[in-house]
Amino acid sequence: MALMNVLIYPDPRLRNKAKEVTAFDGALKSIVDDMFETLDAHNGVGLAATQVNVDKRIIVMNLSRTDKPEKRVFINPEILSSHGSTKFTEGCISVPGIYEDVLRAASVKFKAQDIDGTVFEEDCEDLLSNCIQHEVDHLDGILYIDRLSSLKRQRVLKKLKKLQRQTL
Ligand code: NI
Repeated sequence: MALMNVLIYPDPRLRNKAKEVTAFDGALKSIVDDMFETLDAHNGVGLAATQVNVDKRIIVMNLSRTDKPEKRVFINPEILSSHGSTKFTEGCISVPGIYEDVLRAASVKFKAQDIDGTVFEEDCEDLLSNCIQHEVDHLDGILYIDRLSSLKRQRVLKKLKKLQRQTL
């Protein structure tokens, strides 16, 4: 297992649209293992392959809100339908130090493949629904700050620049 380098906004590679996974092999398992290690190292909830510069439609999540890990892998995820709307406070490993309320669908139905390629469908709400919307966006080159109002986004980008100056 190895830690992967996470791309940080405004890295243009975060705008790549990731390609479909077609081989469910050892190489895929090894990428997923490394993604979990990277997610854990950042205490994150979700990580999309685009964020670690891997051009494949892979998402890993650790949805545990207690001390019990709840690790999930979604390959080639696709949102089939969405209902309602809700505000959720989001953060992103690629946009460090920023947390903002984002308007999302309240519940979604999606399909994905597991690590062996088996297709499954799931209805979800709450944390999983929010996270799958955030991570599928990453695979399409979209960041959650793109979904803020332009006023809010300007404020966030200013704060981000200030934070990045402090850490450089
Ligand atoms: Ni993110």
